[in-house]
Amino acid sequence: MSEPLSRFTVSIPQSLLEQFDAVSAGKGYGSRSEAVRDAIRDSLVEHQWTESREAGEVVGTIVLVYDHQTRRTSEELIDQQHHHHHNVLSSLHIHLDERNCLEVIVVRGTGSEVSHLADALISLRGVKHGRLVCSTTGTDLA
Ligand code: NI
Repeated sequence: MSEPLSRFTVSIPQSLLEQFDAVSAGKGYGSRSEAVRDAIRDSLVEHQWTESREAGEVVGTIVLVYDHQTRRTSEELIDQQHHHHHNVLSSLHIHLDERNCLEVIVVRGTGSEVSHLADALISLRGVKHGRLVCSTTGTDLA
């Protein structure tokens, strides 16, 4: 059964609300309430990541695009993932073209562990683009 909903009034500049509504509509939100709920959840997840750098558990994905012909890049990526095997849940590898690979790595651990692993992978030579996408285990979020 879902939690009871609260209604509240917010005072914000009209232009700010118009921008928010326009962006929300562009993203496909059917109602302002759902857009506001997601914006609040985003803010809470971001805070959860900051707070859980040493303790609490977080989940996320590391997205990498790299040139597999760059010497040692593939080996280094595999070595790092084995070294941090307790934080790596799964990975998906796609050969984009003759040279470029897309790798998506699902990670779980403290915010600090996951951030350090992402930094280590993204900074490798041959990695053209990388991003850590932070999410939540969902347990503390309605
Ligand atoms: Ni590949």
